Amino acid sequence: MERLQKVIANRGYCSRRKAEELIQAGKVWVNGQLVTELGFKVNATDYIEVEGNALGSANQKVYYLLNKPRGVVSTAHDEKGRTTVVDLIDTNLRIYPIGRLDYDTTGLILLTNDGELANLLMHPKNEIEKTYLATIEGSLTPSEFYALKKGIVLDNQKIVIDYLKVKKTNEFTENVLITLHEGQNHIVKKLFLQVGHKVVKLKRESYAFLTLEGVPVGQYRSLTIKEVKKLYSLK
Ligand code: URA
Repeated sequence: MERLQKVIANRGYCSRRKAEELIQAGKVWVNGQLVTELGFKVNATDYIEVEGNALGSANQKVYYLLNKPRGVVSTAHDEKGRTTVVDLIDTNLRIYPIGRLDYDTTGLILLTNDGELANLLMHPKNEIEKTYLATIEGSLTPSEFYALKKGIVLDNQKIVIDYLKVKKTNEFTENVLITLHEGQNHIVKKLFLQVGHKVVKLKRESYAFLTLEGVPVGQYRSLTIKEVKKLYSLK
């Protein structure tokens, strides 16, 4: 048994102090009964509602696929007060993104409170493929294209590119589809810069077998149980 305010805070709804205020203000119900007493104790199976929101159970695991807009940070908190990917998801649970996309990158990012899956997917040995659509300044010459295909050395590490295709070119920019299984920060921008091209726009189109299909920019969906199982099987 634990104190109600502690359970509300631990499940990520708010701070313990705020939980105490909510209890005293008559905003918390346990198993359908109003509780205003701070010493009240609950157990793991009690049904708790705060301000009309049901608290997720302590070990409830959630998985979201978000189509990240530009101008949003891929962290759970931002000291500068900028909008985070977590802010875009309506949940009381303490979720965090699996990996990072830059502030100006759009596209597919997963969020969860399942540390085991997050670690598994981020571990380099599991080589999860990610596909990006990069818009670069100028256009790749044949020798730059083959240099990328052969593998570029960045910070003493050879980066293998699994797939590379020029999709569309105009006078000033070129759209390039690039698939790789490395996950270092800014990797796509660094790769193109290495062959002399600045990335002016970047979108992650897929992550393993998951795509953005049916998920507009700024929107998200929960993963299905089947998808979660499939992600676990990728190790
Ligand atoms: N590579 C980048 O350069 N930026 C991203 O956001 C993701 C991959």
